[in-house]
Amino acid sequence: MANGRVMLKVTKEENVSGDRKAASQGFGRVNAGFAVHFEPEGQRDAACDYFEKHGFVALDNCLIPAEIGHLNEFYDRTQRERPEAWGLSGERKYFQRNAGIMFSQPLLDHPELDPYTRHPRSYPVVARILGGEERVRFSEFNFRETPVDAGKGGMNFHHDKAAPDRFERRPYNPCDWLCAIHYLTDVDPTTPAFCVVPNSNRYVTLGDAFEGLGSDYHEVPVYGRAGTCVLYDTAIFHTRLDGDGSKRRRTWHQYYARGGWLTSWLPGVGKYRRQPSPVLTDWNLFPERLALHPDPGKRLFFSHWNTAQCEWVASGFDPEVRRLTPRGEY
Ligand SMILES: [Fe+2]
Repeated sequence: MANGRVMLKVTKEENVSGDRKAASQGFGRVNAGFAVHFEPEGQRDAACDYFEKHGFVALDNCLIPAEIGHLNEFYDRTQRERPEAWGLSGERKYFQRNAGIMFSQPLLDHPELDPYTRHPRSYPVVARILGGEERVRFSEFNFRETPVDAGKGGMNFHHDKAAPDRFERRPYNPCDWLCAIHYLTDVDPTTPAFCVVPNSNRYVTLGDAFEGLGSDYHEVPVYGRAGTCVLYDTAIFHTRLDGDGSKRRRTWHQYYARGGWLTSWLPGVGKYRRQPSPVLTDWNLFPERLALHPDPGKRLFFSHWNTAQCEWVASGFDPEVRRLTPRGEY
């Protein structure tokens, strides 16, 4: 019965693309003042309450200058030494420029990035939102850069992966996947900027959110200095505003999933077992040092394996098996 109800919602979800086009660039009701910023340690409770209420939260000063410098140096070095990993050369060169360039899987070959996967400033907030540290799972980690003169309208309002039971389950929280975007360069009205529609996580289309939220519908750009972190529920509508094209923007994106089983409730169904969040992608790989880490807590954190990962593990982490996966080299 519960499955039947969920399938009904999946069918509804499949109609998103046509409707989304009608309002792809949003409705223009921009409200930059909506976003409240919090200190991730001193205001952790208030930050979590804000996330629970609106589906996103901005955290100030999550990265110290040395970390911002380290990660920007990583961009500079790898763009110089591994341009194909960024799509700056090779077969991807002409596909990504409008959307920005991306290094999809930097963790595979760069263990110096491991400490960032549970960063001491943002991760405790993430853990609180997802129900405790034992409930947090790693999904994806990538670096993105929107270059100067990236063009207009490179990204439409959309949501990322979302679970079909989110429309009616009670309680809604914790969310299924959570993304943390850390700004590595300053973000202001002249630069590309992350923009969210608060409380839009239970709508099928942006148009539905516009109608359903009424006067509470806002498109909220989140500006902040390098080091700012934005956490958002992947089910809420969001986009990247263009800026004026005069400056590039660099961002580190990390996705987390919720682990463990919960008892939840659906109208007309009653109690049901809410499963651990499914895998976020079918291509993302975790390197051996993380997937098979000797610390059981770290193994649990990296335990959400997709089929490609399962085959890679079974092969003994064969580099040729990795090379054949869709983003195995970048
Ligand atoms: Fe997205």
